[in-house]
Amino acid sequence: MKFDTPATVNPIDRLEVVGKATDRIDGPLKTTGTAPYAYERHDVAANQAYGYVVGAAIAKGRISSIDTSVALDSPGVLAVVTAKNAGTLTKGRFNTAHLLAGPRVEHYHQAVALVVAESFEQARAAAQRVRVEYARESGVHDLASAKASAVEPKDNPDVRVGDFESAFAAAPVQLDATYTTPDQSHAMMEPHASIAAWDGDALTLWTSNQMIAWGAGDVARTLGMPRDKVRLVSPYIGGGFGSKLFVRADAILAALGAKAAGRPVKVTLARPQIFNNTTHRPATLQRIRIGTDAEGSITAIGHESWSGDLPGGGPETATGQTELLYAGANRLTALRLAVLDLPEGNAMRAPGEAPGMMALEIAMDEMAGKLGLDPVEFRIRNDTQVDPANPDRPFSQRQLVKCLRDGADRFGWDKRTANPGTRRDGRWLVGMGVASAFRNNLLMKSAARVRLDAQGIVTVQTDMTDIGTGSYTVIAQTAAEMMGVPLGRVVVELGDSRFPVSAGSGGQWGANSSTAGVYAACMKLRADVADKLGLDPEKAEFVDGRVREGERSHALADAAADAELVAEEAMEYGDLDKKYQQSTFGAHFVEVGVDAATAEIRIRRMLAVCAAGRILNPKSARSQVIGAMTMGAGAALMEELAVDTRRGFFVNHDLAGYEVPVHADIPHQEVVFLEETDPISSPMKAKGVGELGICGVGAAVANAIHNATGIRVRDYPITLDKLLDKMPPLA
Ligand code: MOS
Repeated sequence: MKFDTPATVNPIDRLEVVGKATDRIDGPLKTTGTAPYAYERHDVAANQAYGYVVGAAIAKGRISSIDTSVALDSPGVLAVVTAKNAGTLTKGRFNTAHLLAGPRVEHYHQAVALVVAESFEQARAAAQRVRVEYARESGVHDLASAKASAVEPKDNPDVRVGDFESAFAAAPVQLDATYTTPDQSHAMMEPHASIAAWDGDALTLWTSNQMIAWGAGDVARTLGMPRDKVRLVSPYIGGGFGSKLFVRADAILAALGAKAAGRPVKVTLARPQIFNNTTHRPATLQRIRIGTDAEGSITAIGHESWSGDLPGGGPETATGQTELLYAGANRLTALRLAVLDLPEGNAMRAPGEAPGMMALEIAMDEMAGKLGLDPVEFRIRNDTQVDPANPDRPFSQRQLVKCLRDGADRFGWDKRTANPGTRRDGRWLVGMGVASAFRNNLLMKSAARVRLDAQGIVTVQTDMTDIGTGSYTVIAQTAAEMMGVPLGRVVVELGDSRFPVSAGSGGQWGANSSTAGVYAACMKLRADVADKLGLDPEKAEFVDGRVREGERSHALADAAADAELVAEEAMEYGDLDKKYQQSTFGAHFVEVGVDAATAEIRIRRMLAVCAAGRILNPKSARSQVIGAMTMGAGAALMEELAVDTRRGFFVNHDLAGYEVPVHADIPHQEVVFLEETDPISSPMKAKGVGELGICGVGAAVANAIHNATGIRVRDYPITLDKLLDKMPPLA
């Protein structure tokens, strides 16, 4: 089914099930601890052995020798896999570095060996006895040093509109400031883990992966085997945030270990291995220049961002939102990519916009200050309803102004004092900050299979994943709405490469795209049901477990009385996203207190107002946004991978050293969704919120700190040492 004209009224619009706040159907499994995660699948294959990964001790160089004999002689050890005995391995399409090093080492903690033993403890003990000698090479390990050699990435050329330099030079009010964001780690709860079992030349991996089809393809490619001999199963995932978009070492090494040991093998990356072995969000240096006329209308906006990655990797696309968020006739956005000998950089929740908005939305606050304008008003003054580079191309829906205005009303923005450092509550200096939220809405082809049995049970099968987002539930709601049955009559089966290929979980496209695929399959099943019952598919109504046309009415189950009905279909997209710019919008409001003596920063209140198309399940959507706001608070105040610039690795590579928010850090959070349906996004008229919720939060916190103290920090995270020597004198 192709979606190439705006959606009209369709069965989803009944909103009997869709659009209602709905508990997650997988909730009982999760809350009772019985949802089987990858490492816990004891039942799927008998006689599982344990693999333990040995990580490289250098950032760059060669393995000059590797001696596995002592490890092999250790108690319980069944096999040791290294590049020397693993056979030919190809690099995955989505991997920048190899998942098993040798003889080259491309980054610190890149896997150099897997030890397989009867028990986890035996494998771990023997892993310490693998003797590796390295020929270490010098590298460049920090962005500041690499910046000078950065180049324009060929897939991300500079974007110029009008004449930025002249317009900026001529602007009566100007800002030219540089902001930095650090390397960050996904730090999801469930570690990367896989169980591998071979049946002849066929491989099954029970794993934790956001994108099943990409993953199965990359496993086949890496191991040099036919795609149809690889099965990936990933029904429950304890968080991903982008870390599990691609196959990682646990999966490939489990497969190799199982082959070497001749029995199923399970591998998890221990927490302290994850931060350097897998991907991270790359650090950025961002220069922003904004010029306005005397009244505060933007005439020139420029955003340049530097980031680094291993050879062959890509940039952090931190300038994307600046092409679209505000008006202005003269524009420049440019990415620069340096080669860095650090672990592989890649996508983390809202790649691009998350760090880009952390910079842009401080710059907007600074500019409002220069103009003497309220920061809410300054943003509203520079709203645009069209793509600023292509005035013929409107936004499909854009309610940024309403998000800002409604948010200001609800938050009590009128109580903010424009003069920083002037509001006091006991020992606390109190301030409020605002930022726009922006994230694009991406559409991905997605397929599903829907079955109807003689009991009237509707079963959905798709390789879509649920990374904690609520996919199971919105898919069940969609099928229930389409087939006219209660939620309890729908069974959802996800995360198996034997099911039709879905959009997967990434880029906040999952909810809209995967349910649109289910919609397509249900449209086909409805036609099959009508056909079976001798009804006109155009006129048949599916309600209350029945199918009706005029006076005629049948139980839905009757259509499957003789044989189960099975329909499979995909939703694909035409060029609507070229005619219309599709994005999601919001506004973040934050109030902070900063201790007048110690500069301790505490967030006091947070509010997000979001406009993101139809909200399929307000309950799980709210959970997505409060989680993203929490992650944004972490990015503002704590999260930072500390780079050892001599040795080239992340020093704080565990959850003791990599700080993320805990409950005590997060106060009252409120989320509001504006009424919106977007007929351009899909028949669901929905968009995504899971990444929108993080975009802008960090800047809203930074702006609130400035409002509280008068101190402008442009270097994240904003830890108290960056405030302490600039704090206003104690009264
Ligand atoms: Mo997202 S960073 O595309 O999982």
